[in-house]
Parts: sequence; structure tokens; C-alpha cells
Amino acid sequence: MADLTSNFIGIKSPNPFWLASAPPTDKAYNVRRAFDAGWGGVVWKTLGLDPHVVNVNGPRYGAIYGADRRLLGLNNIELITDRPLQTNLDEIKEVKRDYPAQAMIVSLMVPCEEEPWKMILPMVEETGADGVELNFGCPHGMSERGMGSAVGQVPEYIEMVTRWVKANTRMPVIVKLTPNITDVRKPAEAAKRGGADAVSLINTINSITSVDLDLFAPEPTIDGKGAHGGYCGPAVKPIALNMVAEIARDPGLQGLPISGIGGVTTWKDAAEFLALGAGNVQVCTAAMTYGFKIVQEMISGLSDYMDSKGITSVDEIVGRAVPNVTDWNQLNLNYIAKAKIDQDLCISCGRCFAACEDTSHQAIAMSEDRTFTVIDEECVACNLCVNVCPVEDCITMEAMAPGETDPRTGKVVQPDYANWTTHPNNPAANAAE
Ligand SMILES: Cc1cc2nc3c(=O)[nH]c(=O)nc-3n(C[C@H](O)[C@H](O)[C@H](O)COP(=O)(O)O)c2cc1C
Ligand code: SF4
Ligand code: SF4
Repeated sequence: MADLTSNFIGIKSPNPFWLASAPPTDKAYNVRRAFDAGWGGVVWKTLGLDPHVVNVNGPRYGAIYGADRRLLGLNNIELITDRPLQTNLDEIKEVKRDYPAQAMIVSLMVPCEEEPWKMILPMVEETGADGVELNFGCPHGMSERGMGSAVGQVPEYIEMVTRWVKANTRMPVIVKLTPNITDVRKPAEAAKRGGADAVSLINTINSITSVDLDLFAPEPTIDGKGAHGGYCGPAVKPIALNMVAEIARDPGLQGLPISGIGGVTTWKDAAEFLALGAGNVQVCTAAMTYGFKIVQEMISGLSDYMDSKGITSVDEIVGRAVPNVTDWNQLNLNYIAKAKIDQDLCISCGRCFAACEDTSHQAIAMSEDRTFTVIDEECVACNLCVNVCPVEDCITMEAMAPGETDPRTGKVVQPDYANWTTHPNNPAANAAE
């Protein structure tokens, strides 16, 4: 069986699945059951200084659903822990003592001055925790007080605070990044300059989930008003994957370990983060939606996948897809494909026809008996029909072999690789000649 053990910046855990800093990691009762269920580690819900914060007493979450009411996106206006600092520290110490093999990271957010960091770090060290994560990402409530994403959006502050923390602790330091920024490489570079051992991303995305059209107020609504909150869950995974890949493939950030966060719900999501350069993953919404035992499917799924591929350790997956992430102008323009419909799988719903006829290239024909076929002379291989077809693998994209003639253009498919940088229509390519 594949070896799922993980060693992330020297922090060992039985598997690469950690619970992200959030309600699932808010107290000993939760974390103990999480470890019993199989989670490899936790990042404890963000600690701050006393007096502890207060949360709203009305709804703090909003949601986006799929057609089957499956939760796709979660929005929250919750703050950092609203329990006294010492209560959390005592519980962290007890849990770490009882679960020495599991990773215990403590998330921190204190004012942007050196003294509070100097004060809190020894208190965390005393618990026996394995490391700290600096929460520079929270986009609501704390940012208005000059913390969270208010720090994470200013690379100079990230560097400064990371430097203070590194100077005042022996524990490994993970800097958690906000996605509410244009270029995620800038804060990652700042964290690296400040001496961070790793970055983790993403924290939640600024959002308004919906508007109550009777009250004319954003939801979740507190006494007739709403505030923007942080968005997470499956809907944010593509944004998170891209940000992880941006850091992983940046030459200046080589070697900076990444903890991948954002929408991880299945083992496959996790494996995708690993392949794009994350050394492990953190999970919040999936645990909040389905409970702690969801990790068991992640463990068995990843293990089965690794066995089927002959992969023996998690590290063999880490970064494996990074060399294949490129820029658009490097894509092979000589690669030509056509859509193909499997008539045995087709249920004649007509979605592909409607999509291609109205918004793509009029490349699907519908017969009187509702048989749908692709017109190769028109198909540009855009993939829209595949995306809208309700039957998996019913429509596939088939690559044409070199030497074949593309019936759409009348041109022979070339065997060699050629991208936009040398294309005759590219004015820059012409200028270079
Ligand atoms: C209700 C809620 C509370 C959260 N609280 C914190 C927090 O205190 N500190 C923190 O760093 N991130 C916090 N997060 C963000 C998560 O740790 C995580 O970065 C984010 O939810 C993306 O992961 P997911 O898509 O798996 O949920 C919170 C998220 C939610 C939903
Ligand atoms: S790939 Fe695009 S152009 Fe081709 S049949 Fe499908 S929707 Fe139409
Ligand atoms: S969308 Fe898929 S199932 Fe529906 S008609 Fe087209 S090929 Fe058939």
C-alpha cells in the first residue's frame, strides 16, 4: 500500500490532509474527534489577543448551491476565535500531548506591531505545537482593524511581520496568503524574503453571496443589513489551483513549500493541488459540509490512486504537473481535435446542439429522430459540447493524426510543434524576422 506519510517543512503527519484554521479546529472537542477520524493535522482556529473578539449573533454563513442543492460555495462573516486565549492554549497543549503523531499548527493574528508577536509566540511554543501559521488573509472584520488581509495585501507588511516572527520563535512559520490581491506572487515573495518556511493559500475570497429581494439587503442578513464575507468551498478551487501553480512555477520562488487550500473535497482535488506543487492540503468547507469522516475517503482514494499508478510516496506527486503549466503563447497550434459523440451513451437531450448551434460553431447536426452528430467541417474543438453534456464521456475530443486533412480548414495536420510566438499572424513574430 502507498505510503501517505507527510513531512511538510519538517512537520510530520500520518497523511497530507490537514484541517484548515476554521470552526472545525476551534476547540479540543472537535480536534480530538478529527484526529480520531483520521486527519493528519490541524491548523487551530486563529488565536488573537484578549479581550477576545465577538461574533455576530445572527446568521454568519451564506451559500451557493448546485441544481441538486449540493453546496458549491460557502461565504462567512465569522471572525477569529471568540474564546479566551488561555483556554485555547490549554486545549492545544492537552491535545498535542495526547496526539503526538498528528501535526498541530497554531494560526495567529495579532496587531501589526512587534510587541504582541513577541508576547504570543512563547505562549504558543509552550503548548508543544509543531508550528505557527500567520493569518494574513481574513478579508472581513479583522481587516478593518488593520489585521488579516489588511496585512496580506501589503507585501512590505508581510515581510516585516514574518521577520519579527522568525526572530522570535524556533517554530516553523507558515504564512497564509489572501487571494484578494492581483498577483499572488508578490505576497509570496515578501513572505520568502521575511524568512517564511512555507506559504499556505488560499484564504477566503471577498464576496457577497446573494441579496434578499424582499429586504433588499445582502445575505446573510443581520437585522436588515449585510456585509461582505469570505468565500470558499468547491467553487473557489480553480482560483486556488491557479494561485498555487503561479507560485510553484515562478523561478524566484523555487523551493518555497506550499500548503494548498481551497475547495478540497475529494482525494482527487487533493492530488491536483499536490501535482501543482503543494506539499500538503488543508480542508475546511468539505469538513463543515460532510463531517470529519470525509477524510477516510480522501485517504483511501489517494492510496488507491497511488497504487494504481505505482506511486509509492506523496512526494512523487508533488509538483509533477508544474512543468506542464505554461502560458497561452506556448501552446501547440498544430494540435487539432474534433468532438465525437458516442451514440450508445447519448440520451438525445439536445444540450450540445443548443449550445453549439446558438453560441459556438453550428457544428452539431440534429436529425428528425434526434440523433446528434458532429459536423467535422465546422467543429473548432472548443469543448463546449463536452462541458454541457450531462453524460460523462459521451462526447470526447479526439486528436487528429499528423498527415490527416482537417476538413474545416482543408490543411494537413503538421507533426511539428508551433506556437503563437512564430505564427505568421503574430505581428511581433513578423517584427522579429
Ligand atoms: C466559517 C469559516 C471560518 C474561517 N475562519 C478562519 C480563521 O479563523 N483563520 C483562517 O486562517 N482561515 C479561516 N477560514 C478560511 C479557511 O481556513 C480556508 O482558508 C478557506 O475556507 C478555504 O478552504 P475551503 O475551500 O476548504 O473551505 C475560515 C473559513 C470559514 C468557512
Ligand atoms: S467542440 Fe465546440 S464547435 Fe465542436 S461540436 Fe462541440 S461545441 Fe461545436
Ligand atoms: S448533450 Fe450529450 S447526451 Fe445530450 S444530445 Fe448531446 S451528446 Fe447526447
